[in-house]
Amino acid sequence: MNKNRSLPLFLSTATAYAFGFLLWMTATTIKECGGTVLALALATPPTTIPVAVLGATGRLGKETVGALLERGIPVRALVRPSSVEKLKQQQNQNELPGDGIGILDHPQVEIIEGELLDTPASGTYSDDTVLPSEELVECLTGCSVCIACYGATRKTKPSELLSWVLSTKSNDDEPDPSEDTDPIHPKQINYRSMLALGKACERINSSNNNNKDTTRIEHIVRITGKGEDPTGIFSVLLNGLGSFCKLWNYQGETVLRSKAFGGPNSGTNENEGSVGYTIVRPGVMVEDLKEDDLKPGQRRYLELKGNGGNDLPVTPVTRPQIAGLLAELAVGEAAGAGRRRRVTLAAMNVVAEDEAGASGSDLRDRIRGLASDSRSFPDSLVHEHKSATKRFFRRLAAAVAAVVVAAVSLLGKVVLG
Ligand SMILES: NC(=O)c1ccc[n+]([C@@H]2O[C@H](COP(=O)([O-])OP(=O)(O)OC[C@H]3O[C@@H](n4cnc5c(N)ncnc54)[C@H](OP(=O)(O)O)[C@@H]3O)[C@@H](O)[C@H]2O)c1
Repeated sequence: MNKNRSLPLFLSTATAYAFGFLLWMTATTIKECGGTVLALALATPPTTIPVAVLGATGRLGKETVGALLERGIPVRALVRPSSVEKLKQQQNQNELPGDGIGILDHPQVEIIEGELLDTPASGTYSDDTVLPSEELVECLTGCSVCIACYGATRKTKPSELLSWVLSTKSNDDEPDPSEDTDPIHPKQINYRSMLALGKACERINSSNNNNKDTTRIEHIVRITGKGEDPTGIFSVLLNGLGSFCKLWNYQGETVLRSKAFGGPNSGTNENEGSVGYTIVRPGVMVEDLKEDDLKPGQRRYLELKGNGGNDLPVTPVTRPQIAGLLAELAVGEAAGAGRRRRVTLAAMNVVAEDEAGASGSDLRDRIRGLASDSRSFPDSLVHEHKSATKRFFRRLAAAVAAVVVAAVSLLGKVVLG
């Protein structure tokens, strides 16, 4: 970076941080004294530092961009070139909630066209060699918070399903042939993209690059899902039909918790090297919730439970609710509220009996109250997910085959007398 520009840039970045932090603290104090409206106005930091959003074109991503803009935060979005083309051809071009402007045209949204990963010359991806695309690095540079709300959408091919069912191999963990070569496989998108994100953060935050004139990436907010129960019916079905998307989402989480992001095993000084994270495991995401099933006096609210939140039952949550949570997390982290906190949380709707005791706190209080993960999570659930899913589909195929054989023999008896 040009040295002549570095001092003013550093000063403006530092001022924006200081001002944002001051307002966040002021807002919090006022709110505790009951000045909710004023607090809400003040709690929106005036910083012009954009939040990087990866997956902005998805249903949750679109809501998240809208929620950030609503809070006065500019957005830098990495969008695949093919999706930019698709959006250009659409009449309403993926209108954002709120002001109804398409994501490509919004003055507060900067679009960077690119893929998440660098394409390897060999055509084969591996954990050791995977790299972020230059566009991903460009998207993150100058942001302090990144919201990663993308997820692979690849469906399992019938030939892949058939190969599991007919497999006589004793080792279910063996990779499917496309696992390391297909650029849109969840192993690349949900898992290896996290390794690449770690490398991008390291590059941006490295001491060489960080002459105090570059904004550091301080925090990653990542959306995954509950994935610690490989035998659960949702896990098995989503893994079976979606190329093991849940398994690779879980493995992506482990990257965030590991040394790739300066985690507890990295040996780095927490205040120097690490990047904070909030992993959000939402319930089943829907567009709307019916309020009809609530009894008078009952209220539904979004409960947050740290340390993975495995004991919080899965319930439907709306995308606007989760987008609001992601935006609030980004605002808080950008203002330095929970900087370098390392939290894995479940976010589910729960019903409380009365308005007063409904939550005991609002969403911002619940976010502020989150503590860094303090239990150990399994490093790998590859074996558990793969064997549970393949076993389920083998049994399903055997059951279907038995029914077909029984039906054919019955038909044969009827026809032949
Ligand atoms: N649906 C649920 O109930 C639920 C529950 C828990 C967690 N989740 C997680 O939340 C994520 C977001 O949900 P959603 O409803 O917003 O999904 P969605 O509408 O399908 O959006 C998927 C997003 O991921 C991006 N993406 C897909 N493949 C990609 C690739 N190969 N490279 C780069 N970007 C890619 C898409 O970009 P393009 O526009 O370029 O395709 C899009 O922005 C899910 O993927 C899942 O991991 C979902």
